[in-house]
Amino acid sequence: MLEINDHQTGIPWVFYLNMNNQPFISLDQIDEVANRIRIGTKYRPKIGLILGSGLGELADSIENPDFFPFKDLPFWPQSTVRGHTGRLVVGNLENQSLLVMQGRIHFYEGYSMSQVTMPIRVMQRLGIEILIVTNAAGGINPDFVPGDLMLITDNLNLIGMMGFNPLIGPNLDELGPRFPDMSQAYDRALMETSRQAAFETGISLHEGVYAGLSGPSFESPADLRFLRASGADAVGMSTVAEVIVARHAGTRCLGFSGISNKANLDGNTVTTHEEVLEAGRVIGPKLEKILRSILRKISL
Ligand code: HPA
Repeated sequence: MLEINDHQTGIPWVFYLNMNNQPFISLDQIDEVANRIRIGTKYRPKIGLILGSGLGELADSIENPDFFPFKDLPFWPQSTVRGHTGRLVVGNLENQSLLVMQGRIHFYEGYSMSQVTMPIRVMQRLGIEILIVTNAAGGINPDFVPGDLMLITDNLNLIGMMGFNPLIGPNLDELGPRFPDMSQAYDRALMETSRQAAFETGISLHEGVYAGLSGPSFESPADLRFLRASGADAVGMSTVAEVIVARHAGTRCLGFSGISNKANLDGNTVTTHEEVLEAGRVIGPKLEKILRSILRKISL
């Protein structure tokens, strides 16, 4: 067992530990957070949206929002990364009720996979049916340039392959099976809707495979050549674990990578977090346009 003091009250939260001695969030804890949100808003969103690095401003477009700062939610990991505000925004966009994560939690911040993906579990308990994930990513596909947008058609679960699958530990049988299928991690119908939305809004949309690494160091040229040879088009430090947990309970997923930098396969350029945040300023408006169009096409 592990005790961490609540940020506000100082009262300890008690976590059970998994076999790697990392905090494991129980269904009771997940439900406690979900209840806190349910009683704090009149909205009953069916769509969840996670905003990646430098893309958080999109949450400012949510109409009549209710806010839930991460620091006010029990058991909720705190976002420590610049470019991640760290709150939930619940409200309307294009006549859809949305729950938006303005900033996400990353494995490299030192949280367990169970903590990193707790927001997805909370969304599921709140009745979210569709999860839209966005991220900043390095472009490995040579056709991609910074500022481009990529529809994620599949992912390489490299963190999972190294033993950090978010479903390791006791299975939450109430939510999904022990061995969930991942043959269509990203929903085909939602991908088709996104292609139509891109066409109608005149936004060029690449498609490709997102490779999920732990970070926080960026990749070496050899890492990148390996990823390219493995079929990856973009690389980042998030998303994959969230999608696995979403699919475990049947949540439909849609994903977009904003290409913030060109992967440096020859070692002649340097990648920085500033560049990632800067690219977000170009990608954000495009993403908002396409997301608004997609939301207008979804009926739940
Ligand atoms: N590598 C990994 N994660 C990233 C990158 C990158 O080049 N750019 C933005 N997130």
